Amino acid sequence: MDIIISNSAEETVEAGRRFAESLAGGEVICLAGDLGAGKTHFAKGIVAGLGGDPQEVTSPTFTLVHEYHAGRIPVFHFDFYRLESGRELQNIGWEDYLDHAAVCLVEWADKFPDEVPAKAVWLNFVIQLDQTRRVEVRR
Ligand SMILES: Nc1ncnc2c1ncn2[C@@H]1O[C@H](COP(=O)(O)OP(=O)(O)OP(=O)(O)O)[C@@H](O)[C@H]1O
Ligand SMILES: [Mg+2]
Repeated sequence: MDIIISNSAEETVEAGRRFAESLAGGEVICLAGDLGAGKTHFAKGIVAGLGGDPQEVTSPTFTLVHEYHAGRIPVFHFDFYRLESGRELQNIGWEDYLDHAAVCLVEWADKFPDEVPAKAVWLNFVIQLDQTRRVEVRR
């Protein structure tokens, strides 16, 4: 397991940017862990690292998915926080999203782990006592 420590929101964006260097398309990246721990900031970094605009990245809480097509690989950014059931995912074409050679980011994926393909990489975000963030990466 790899551990990333971040001392600020900016460092978390930078960590996402570096993480994106390893992506070729087709990956599913699950962003789980504490409320407000930096999942969306890390997603901004991934979008930026793939050539998109991090300022466009906001949490897809109400729409369930945001798509970013400006970079070298498309990014589909999901958030399961307000999802009520796995069936809602079928309604938005979850399987079709997974079929693309895009990068799928899934915040709160741990709410519906059964919907997540086995190949997914899991990142667990933890707010530490001193308010710094620890990210545990399981590939
Ligand atoms: N080291 C850090 N990394 C990331 N965010 C930090 C850090 N320190 C403080 N913050 C603050 O914590 C908040 C993290 O917000 P962000 O939306 O990225 O978290 P999140 O995990 O996506 O939240 P949610 O659980 O609501 O989806 C921001 O307000 C940010 O400024
Ligand atoms: Mg978020």
